[in-house]
Amino acid sequence: MAEAPAVVVEDIVMQYRVREDRTAGRRLGGLLPGGRPVSRIDALRGVSLEVPRGQRLGIVGRNGSGKSTLMSIIAGLRQPTSGRVLVSDYPVMLGVSAVLNRDLSGYQNVLLGCTALGMRREEARRRAPEILGYAGVSASAGRPMRTYSSGMRARLGFAIATVVEPEILLVDEALATGDAEFRRRGRERVKSIADRAGAVVLVSHTMRDVRDNCDRVVWLDDGRVVMDGPVDEVTAAYEAGDGRP
Ligand SMILES: Nc1ncnc2c1ncn2[C@@H]1O[C@H](COP(=O)(O)OP(=O)(O)OP(=O)(O)O)[C@@H](O)[C@H]1O
Ligand SMILES: [Mg+2]
Repeated sequence: MAEAPAVVVEDIVMQYRVREDRTAGRRLGGLLPGGRPVSRIDALRGVSLEVPRGQRLGIVGRNGSGKSTLMSIIAGLRQPTSGRVLVSDYPVMLGVSAVLNRDLSGYQNVLLGCTALGMRREEARRRAPEILGYAGVSASAGRPMRTYSSGMRARLGFAIATVVEPEILLVDEALATGDAEFRRRGRERVKSIADRAGAVVLVSHTMRDVRDNCDRVVWLDDGRVVMDGPVDEVTAAYEAGDGRP
């Protein structure tokens, strides 16, 4: 029997309900729909996919196509309106706004982040120098995170999230602000997770990152999968279509 996939997404529908600003509606006249006080946003309209163990799946699609919504549902951070997600282990999500506290130091964030991922405090303390070193921010370890550049924050977030290589890693545009060296390290770690039969799902607007990191690509548009296949084919079609099928 074939091994069970790491992630199974079954017919996920996600509708957000949002209260409209009626003043804006009146002022903008015909630009806003209807003037209803609450409107429904169909972020995902029935998405199904499987990520086998050992696979690095890329997700592409224009702004607002539903990528981050899908990632947060796979991560278990959000309940879908209908459909279900099955995972072989708890996914670790690495987002653009990785949960780092801006007022705490890099060191404190390492302790906090590692314990949040289930590490014992003692081990987190022991491994902090290694994590800060890997992130390349050792010299700034005592400074508050708000003084870090966005690339430094991204590096530290990535180092924390992948210190214990998770079985399922979800990356939502978290590689984007890194420099060349960080991208290379990110690529190595993503590969190493997949090589250990883990699974990685990576959202990016940078086709180079998708080509460097993924074995397969799903293209989302308006909450639907419009293409699912080999990296070269899907990224080429996406680029040629300028974000539209
Ligand atoms: N918390 C929310 N409440 C209401 N609507 C939301 C919320 N989050 C996202 N949406 C809507 O859901 C749709 C999909 O958004 P989502 O953030 O998943 O897109 P995305 O593909 O990640 O876009 P981007 O490339 O800009 O990151 C959009 O129409 C967006 O306005
Ligand atoms: Mg997004």
